[in-house]
Amino acid sequence: MISQRIQQMSSFIVMDVLERANEIARQGHSVIHLEVGEPDFNTPECVKRAVCRALDAGQTHYTHSLGVPELRQAICDHYAERYQVPVDPEQVIVSSGTSPAMLALFAALLDPGDEVIISDPHYACYPNFITFVQGQPVTVPVYEEDGFQYRPEAIAAKLSRRTKAIFINSPSNPTGNLLSRRRMAAIADLAGSGGAPYVVSDEIYHGLVYEGKEHCILEFTDNAFVLNGFSKMYAMTGLRLGYLIVPRKFVRPIQKIQQNFFISANSVVQMAGIAALKEAGPDVARMRAIYNERRLFIIRRLKELGFGLTVAPTGAFYVFANARHLSHDSYKLAFDILEKAHVGVTPGIDFGQNGEGYLRFSYANSMENIAEGMHRLERYSDAAG
Ligand SMILES: Cc1ncc(COP(=O)(O)O)c(C=O)c1O
Repeated sequence: MISQRIQQMSSFIVMDVLERANEIARQGHSVIHLEVGEPDFNTPECVKRAVCRALDAGQTHYTHSLGVPELRQAICDHYAERYQVPVDPEQVIVSSGTSPAMLALFAALLDPGDEVIISDPHYACYPNFITFVQGQPVTVPVYEEDGFQYRPEAIAAKLSRRTKAIFINSPSNPTGNLLSRRRMAAIADLAGSGGAPYVVSDEIYHGLVYEGKEHCILEFTDNAFVLNGFSKMYAMTGLRLGYLIVPRKFVRPIQKIQQNFFISANSVVQMAGIAALKEAGPDVARMRAIYNERRLFIIRRLKELGFGLTVAPTGAFYVFANARHLSHDSYKLAFDILEKAHVGVTPGIDFGQNGEGYLRFSYANSMENIAEGMHRLERYSDAAG
C-alpha cells in the first residue's frame, strides 16, 4: 500500500501541462512552451569549464557535508557585496538544489502541527514540503491590486503560538513581483528574537530583477533562514546546486540531516558554483537584459489581448495575468488553450485557491516563440470572444 504521506501529496499541475504539450508535439504539432519555469539559456561557459576542470582534477569524491569551504566563503562574499550583510561561512550549508535544502530546513524546524505562513498564490511545492514533515501550511491571501505583495497586518492576524515560520519569496514565483523594502521590514518586525517565528526567505530569483531592487531578509533580521540556489540566475537547473544560510543553532541539526540523507552536494558542481559566483557576472547581465526585453514585450501583448495586469511584474521570469475575461476555471482554460492554440501556460490554481482565474506565463523562451505564442493566443481569444 502507498503511504498516506504520499497519497496526500498533490502533483505539480504544470508538469501535467508539460506532459500533454509533449504528447501534442509528438503528434507533429509545434507547441509554444510558456509554462516552463526554467531558463532557456545555456549554462555560462565559465561554469561549464569549471565542471570539466574539476572532473579532470579528480574532484569526484564526497565533500564536507556542509559544502566545500571555498564555496561557502564565496557565498558569504556574494551576500556581503550585494546586500552588505555579514554572513559567517559556518552558517552556510550547501545542498543539491534549493529543493532538498527546503526539505532539510523544515525537517529541522517543524514538529507535527507546527505552522508555516505562506502566501496564496505561492510556489506550488511549498505546502508539500511543509506537510511532508507534518507541519501545517497557513495561507495568507495576496491580491492583484497590491502586486500580490503580502499585507503584513494580514500575516500578523494569522500568527499563533504554533507559528514557526513566515515564508517569503521575492521576486516571487508565480507572480514575478517584489516585496517592497517597507513591507519586508514590517514582516521582519513580526519575527521573534532568537526563536520562532523565523522568516524563511526563498531568494532563488534574486539577480533576475529588472526594476527596483531585491532585498535579502538578513538586511532586516537575523532571525531568518535564507534559501537560495544557482538554478535560475545562473541557468544551472540541471546541475543541482543550492544552499541555506541559517541561525547558528540550526547548523548542527541540519548537518545531521545532510550527513544521513544526502551526504554532500555534488563535488564537481560545487566547484562550478564558485566559478558562477566569481566569474559569471557578465553572463547574468546579458541574460537579464534579454529577459527584460521579453518581459516588456509580453506585458504589452497580454494587455492588448485583454489580460488583467494591475501591477507590472519586475522580477523572475513570470507574468501572472488575470484571465477571467476568458474563464474563471484556470485549469480548464489552460488545457483548452493548449489543445486549441498549442500554447502551454500554467493554470493559476496550481499556486493556490487565490490563484484561480489567473494564468502564469513564463518568458523563459525566445522572443520569436513568445511573439508566436501571443499571436496564437490572440486567435484563440478572437475565436472565444
Ligand atoms: C520559488 C522556487 N523555489 C525553489 C525552486 C526549486 O529550485 P531548485 O532548482 O534550486 O531546486 C523553484 C523552482 O522552480 C522555485 O520556483
